[in-house]
Formats: sequence, structure tokens, C-alpha cells
Amino acid sequence: MNTQTASANTPVFPFELIRADLEVVEKAIRDQARAFDPAVEGYVSYVCQAAGKRIRPALALMAGGATGGKTADHTRLSVILEMIHIASLVHDDIMDGAATRRGLPTAAAKWGSALSVLLGDALFAYALELATEFEDAVVCRSIAKASRDVCSGEIFQTQRRFDLNLSVPDYLRMIEMKTAALFGVAAGMGARLNGVPENVEAALHSCGMKLGTVYQIYDDCLDLVGDEKKVGKTLRTDLVKGKLTLPILYLLMDATDAQKQKLNKMLLQGEPIDTTILASIADYEGAVEKAVKFAQSMLKDAVADLICLSDTPYKQAFEGVAEYIHGLLDNCRALSR
Ligand code: IPE
Ligand code: IPE
Ligand code: MG
Ligand code: MG
Repeated sequence: MNTQTASANTPVFPFELIRADLEVVEKAIRDQARAFDPAVEGYVSYVCQAAGKRIRPALALMAGGATGGKTADHTRLSVILEMIHIASLVHDDIMDGAATRRGLPTAAAKWGSALSVLLGDALFAYALELATEFEDAVVCRSIAKASRDVCSGEIFQTQRRFDLNLSVPDYLRMIEMKTAALFGVAAGMGARLNGVPENVEAALHSCGMKLGTVYQIYDDCLDLVGDEKKVGKTLRTDLVKGKLTLPILYLLMDATDAQKQKLNKMLLQGEPIDTTILASIADYEGAVEKAVKFAQSMLKDAVADLICLSDTPYKQAFEGVAEYIHGLLDNCRALSR
């Protein structure tokens, strides 16, 4: 397994069209810290200012642009979704025992779990407070429901750690909740804010859900084959924490009964499984390959959902997001060889 060099080119996110709007969102995210008590402001600033890719805001803005134009409501939606995302990452890093996020020490590493749990809670709560400012209660409700899904997905994952009975449909349900829900709301509510017909809102929501699902599968492959320095966050925690992701599930399917027993024993004893052991008992490269194929085929379905949109540069940008994730998956495949 080559973890040092990627042979493929690094894909570029199609941000250009929304660059100016994203800058407004970026500033608004940074400004949110001031709404907190001075005792808390510094912690909020730290996690909000670190450079994330802002993919969820980008989708909300693109959905606005594709359905009649971006408004101040799209900026608000973008800020809220990014804050919920950041809150979930603060909590996730506690659970994963991760040291690095967005190229910086995690909140948990800097201030410990107790403070970080509360920091994540404060961010969740503040995002929901901002969501009440939408005139349409459905938007607020959808954001609150997606936040609940993110947390429920993380609970589901924690519950099923080290569980060899976890099926692919179980895994997909889990990642739909923990990751795709926010992508779905970004695209679906981004459209709803422009008063689109129901079928268009549903189609964009569905496209967002698929993009989010595929993005998590990519991230799960990256956890196995990525380079921490390039990615800027702690990797290789999924196996250690007993998270059975799609490539691992495929790997288990291909293992012989004797190999499964060996794995089962390790899992039952809660022993960390390192990738070398796993590689020696099953077809590691083939497992990443299968996960990549599955994800890339779902990307085609995501693009098919866009048929309801008229042909604008924003529709093309949506298609560009699918191409971008396709390229990221190609890179993972190359790194697994
Ligand atoms: C990381 O999300 C967590 C997942 C859901 C895979 P991102 O890859 O969007 O993280 P940032 O926001 O760019 O840091
Ligand atoms: C995504 O899962 C976390 C959330 C949806 C909160 P991961 O645990 O794979 O995310 P990373 O890899 O730490 O960014
Ligand atoms: Mg994590
Ligand atoms: Mg991950």
C-alpha cells in the first residue's frame, strides 16, 4: 500500500462560481464567535476559524444559484450548516481520540473532553437558535432534524463498533444520518428558500443525500490509505475504534471462515486491528476498489437527480461537485495499490 504519493492529480472543488458568496459566508462564520459570552468566545473562534473546505455551505449556495438566485437566507443557511458540521467534528474528535483537525490540534487535544463536549453543545444550540430566524418553519425544522440525524448516526456507529454483523445497508443508513443529512438539507433547503416546486426540492435533497453518502465513503477509504500530513487530520482511527466502514465490510466478505474467526477474536477482545494484519488476511486493495466502484456508481444517480434543473452554470457546478468527489475516489484507489 502506497501512502506516500498519489499518482492521480488532486481534484479541484468547483468553487469559482460562488467564491464571492463563500467569502461572505466565511466572514459570517468567523463573526459568529462574537455572539458568545467572552468566556467562551476564544474556543468558538478557534474551531470556527480553522480552514475547512466549506463543502456544505458551497452546496447551499449552488442550490440557491441553480433555482433563482442566492439571497441573505442562503448565507444564513450556509453559516448554520457549517456550525452544525463543526459542532459534530468537535464531538467526533473526542470520540475518535483524534489529535489533529484542519491542520491544527483538535479542541479535545487542547482543552480536554469535558470542555469540548460543552463547546460542541454550545455550537449546536447556537446554530439552531440562528435557524429560528427563517420565516419558513419547515427550513428550521429540517435543520433541527438533520442535527438530530447527525447525532443519531454517531450514536448508531458507536453502538455497532466491533460488530461483525453490521451489514452494508446498516452502514449506509448510518452514514446517511451522520453525514448525508447535512448535504441533503444544504441542497434541498437551498432550493426551498427560492420557493421551488416540491419535486425540485425533493430532487435536490436526494442529490445532496447521495453526494453526502459518497463523500463519507470516500472519507472512509481515505482513513485507510490517506496521508495525514496532506489531509490535515488524524487518520487510521476507524479500525482502531472498531468502526466497520464500507471497505472493511467488503474485506470481511472476502475473508475465509478461518480468517473471519481470527478477526472475530480480535474484535471481541476489543484489540486494535492494524492495517498490516488486515492486509495479510484479505484482499485490501480489492476492498478499497469495490468501495470506490460502489461510490462512483452512486455519483451517477446523484447527477441524474439534477435533470429537474435548467441548464445554468450552477447546475454545471453541481455536476462539478460529483466529478470532484469522483476524482477523490480515484485518488484513493491509486493510493491503495
Ligand atoms: C469531515 O468532513 C467529516 C466527514 C463527514 C467526512 P469534511 O471533509 O467536509 O471536513 P472539513 O469541513 O473540510 O474540515
Ligand atoms: C464523520 O465521520 C464525522 C461526522 C459526521 C461527525 P469520521 O469520523 O469519519 O470523520 P473524520 O474522518 O474524523 O473527519
Ligand atoms: Mg472521526
Ligand atoms: Mg473519517
